[in-house]
Amino acid sequence: MKRIFTKEIVDQVDQTVKVAGWIHARRDMGKVLFFDLRDKDGLLQIVAVPQELGEENAAIASSLKPEWVVEIEGVVQKRGAKQINEKMVTGTVELLAKKVTVLNESKVPPFEIDQDSMPVNEELRLKYRYLDLRTERMAANLRARNAAFQTMRQFLAEERFIEVETPILTKGTPEGAREYLVPSRLHAGNFYVLPQAPQQFKQLLMTAGVERYYQVARCFRDEDQRGDRQPEFTQLDLEMSFVEEEDVIDVIERMLVGTVEKLYPHKKIQAKPFPRLTYAEVMKKYKTDRPDLRKNTDDPDELAFCWVVDFPFFEKDDNSNWTFTHNPFSAAKPEFKVDLMEKKNIDKIIAAQYDIVLNGFEIGGGSIRNHQPEALRSVLEILGTSDEQVKEQFGHMLEAFEFGAPPHGGIALGMDRVMAILQNEPNIREVIPFPKDGHARDLMMNAPSPMQSSALKEVHIKLDLK
Ligand code: AMO
Repeated sequence: MKRIFTKEIVDQVDQTVKVAGWIHARRDMGKVLFFDLRDKDGLLQIVAVPQELGEENAAIASSLKPEWVVEIEGVVQKRGAKQINEKMVTGTVELLAKKVTVLNESKVPPFEIDQDSMPVNEELRLKYRYLDLRTERMAANLRARNAAFQTMRQFLAEERFIEVETPILTKGTPEGAREYLVPSRLHAGNFYVLPQAPQQFKQLLMTAGVERYYQVARCFRDEDQRGDRQPEFTQLDLEMSFVEEEDVIDVIERMLVGTVEKLYPHKKIQAKPFPRLTYAEVMKKYKTDRPDLRKNTDDPDELAFCWVVDFPFFEKDDNSNWTFTHNPFSAAKPEFKVDLMEKKNIDKIIAAQYDIVLNGFEIGGGSIRNHQPEALRSVLEILGTSDEQVKEQFGHMLEAFEFGAPPHGGIALGMDRVMAILQNEPNIREVIPFPKDGHARDLMMNAPSPMQSSALKEVHIKLDLK
């Protein structure tokens, strides 16, 4: 007999079926045993009665413990009106067991799988993440993440975007964050860098004529950890050619509204279209560039999106040198283009840059870019980038733009933050399958970890651990 999923048995009343999964909970009622069997879709009530099972199977049934893996054959029964459990997908039926097979036993788990693991010590949860992911809330978060990506991918496909993969082993990009290094074995003393974002590649894809790119992109930043920051996180990254700020904003707004309305119909989007506030306005009114515009911050179903626009392009760093506020590849707004080219009124130049904020969290940011090499060169001159650095860090971009780069712009959404808010989770670790802990460690795999000296030698590394 072929195994079916528990969800499928609701329309198989009176049929004999085979299901498989984990013993979620066990309830002994004298002679009758009740089990909740868990598979990927949810729970199914199993009824084990000795006279239906025969001696051998009854003995197996009574030996079952939580988290054992079993296969059960039985007859699907309709539950009586009083026994119907509306919270369960399979709540109108139960399975009267006829044959029980143990596929694997389980040690007693370090925490209860049939309870919410939120109160459990997080180190323990992360060490046994594969058990944590069995719990109902965490499994639901995994499925919700999948549903959101699927909905967004479908939307973008309909909007004629194509997904393109960009390299993980690459070169550093000066976007502000500290980067992870990967030593090269073949090129002694040289390093790859893990991308903090696919920024340069997506711009080069515009130069390549792709016009509408997106990617579910893994990004790496060696930053201090916080509830909304991980060293490794996921962006929904996109870029478009022949567009202005308005076009990028329009695509993102339609995608987010469509996703929320489809997957979270009970949630209320406070204002559509999303309000737009200038950087100057939000700083004056809310003293932050991530204002929380919710009317009632206790309402878990309220979603207050807004755009923050018109960011200053440059600011002074601690040494009184000009630095970029977001991204050196951004363009100035058209009315400031002359100032940018002439390197005048630098503090007043406004970039064609936009952030999207949800309930007080920055969930994304992007800009229209400089597609003309001389404009990018002007930015680099204002930043005081030396000729040598320009050549080393930006030479390939400047060169590419000399081959007919189209005007382009884009944005990246921080999908872990989006999912944490949609799922009402207090931090992004709850919606990332295998996150790092607060000290950037993977407690399950035990990473980072020391390397054997032979492995280090191969990549030409000598340690200096003082
Ligand atoms: P930016 O650096 O603003 O832009 O990143 C875009 C969004 O990614 C999310 N994010 C993070 N999420 C979790 N952990 C982190 N460490 C982390 N860092 C950032 C945020 C943020 O808004 N290349 C540009 C995008 C562009 O211009 O198109 C970029 O990466 O939600």
